[in-house]
Amino acid sequence: MSNNSRRDFIKQAALGTAALMAYPKSSVLGANDRVRLAIIGIGSRGQELLRQTLQLPNAQVVAVADIYTRRFDEARKISPGLQTVNDYRRVLDMKDIDGVLVASPLHIHARHFTDTLAAGKDLYSEKTMTWSIAEAEQCLAASKKSDRVVQIGLQHESEGPLADAKKWIRDGKVGKVTQVESWMSRNTPHGKGQWVRPVPADCTAESVNWKAFLNGRPDMPFDPFKFLNWRLFWMFSGGNVTENMVHQMAWIMSALDLPLPTAAYMSGGVFSEKDGRQVPDTISVTVDFPNDVVVAFQSTFSNSRYGLGQRILGSDGTIEYVAGANEMVSGKSEEEIHYYPESVNRSKSAAIKGESPSQNHIANWIDCMRARKSPNAPVEVGYSSAVVAHMANLSYRHKRRLTFEEAKAIPPEF
Ligand SMILES: NC(=O)c1ccc[n+]([C@@H]2O[C@H](COP(=O)([O-])OP(=O)(O)OC[C@H]3O[C@@H](n4cnc5c(N)ncnc54)[C@H](O)[C@@H]3O)[C@@H](O)[C@H]2O)c1
Repeated sequence: MSNNSRRDFIKQAALGTAALMAYPKSSVLGANDRVRLAIIGIGSRGQELLRQTLQLPNAQVVAVADIYTRRFDEARKISPGLQTVNDYRRVLDMKDIDGVLVASPLHIHARHFTDTLAAGKDLYSEKTMTWSIAEAEQCLAASKKSDRVVQIGLQHESEGPLADAKKWIRDGKVGKVTQVESWMSRNTPHGKGQWVRPVPADCTAESVNWKAFLNGRPDMPFDPFKFLNWRLFWMFSGGNVTENMVHQMAWIMSALDLPLPTAAYMSGGVFSEKDGRQVPDTISVTVDFPNDVVVAFQSTFSNSRYGLGQRILGSDGTIEYVAGANEMVSGKSEEEIHYYPESVNRSKSAAIKGESPSQNHIANWIDCMRARKSPNAPVEVGYSSAVVAHMANLSYRHKRRLTFEEAKAIPPEF
């Protein structure tokens, strides 16, 4: 039997005819099968995922899809022999592709997400899962109807510090948690805004499929700056919140097993560099969760001294995760997680440093593809972290605190 027919045969036996009819192109991987992958959107992150995948045994990216010709040369420099296509549907048609990594801009994630599942492929979708709450609900529903393995690109869910935090909380070391503080800070040289990319000479209406990029946004003339700097504009992006906060919010919600928030409020503005961007760089976000927990997140793009981190504040102890904070005297960076007991309730406990090993997030997805198991950042984590991100952004844009129901009722705004 060929690899594919063997996989299909095993799958038929395992899942029955109904699943096969719903997902005719899907396959089941044996322990030693080489997993064949494709990447949709082979820009900056897609190329990073390609490099990471090259390090993994028994997995191979065989095809990439993009709508900007320059990306094909860049991808082939990393992995010669790649098949390149200018329409993502062509990789979804390829019967011998087992899984697809989506690293397109945020406003196209939902299309690539649902079409990948409909084509019967397992899916690794970059964060934030979607551009809007409505799309997050569509993707959640599509995933629940499917038997495909979905991993969201929230890689900190696979890392040791989260395992440490979960263990300390489970062991009762932290007590009642009422508040979480979190922050993420960056800086850039004067006059150069965070994320801004120069436009290369080859970025023209001929080398880019602008209509495919717009993905249903109101038609407008080709704009290479917007194409490359989509992160700066609401129509395509959710800014600092969907690029950065979502990682930490997912981590905090996973550590504490938090349900959807009841309300969110975000203030701030375009303060660091007034370079025409729409999305705020400097933000202060407050998220209320049921059962007496409030999570605060703050960020700016014009001071990076304290890197990023989060502190889970409990009646019996504190969990402090710090990454990239500059130690005052030496300027050294560190990434560490610690537990500190609260002496009023745990006078006999000592501080602990976390030492759980981290897993490779893509390798975790591939292992789960073989075992047909749920990976470390499943669709539910992608959904709830996306919802918090969009509640915060909608609150900022509407200048008021919003409940989940209120945020959900706001129609998409470009
Ligand atoms: N997990 C992480 O830590 C992490 C880090 C960086 C970026 N990301 C995420 O990765 C995604 C991509 O970010 P980026 O910086 O690589 O953006 P990018 O602009 O560099 O790359 C996006 C690519 O998608 C292509 N593209 C646009 N429309 C397309 C379409 N319709 N079909 C196929 N390809 C299309 C573009 O031509 C481009 O090559 C974003 O969602 C971002 O948030 C995640």
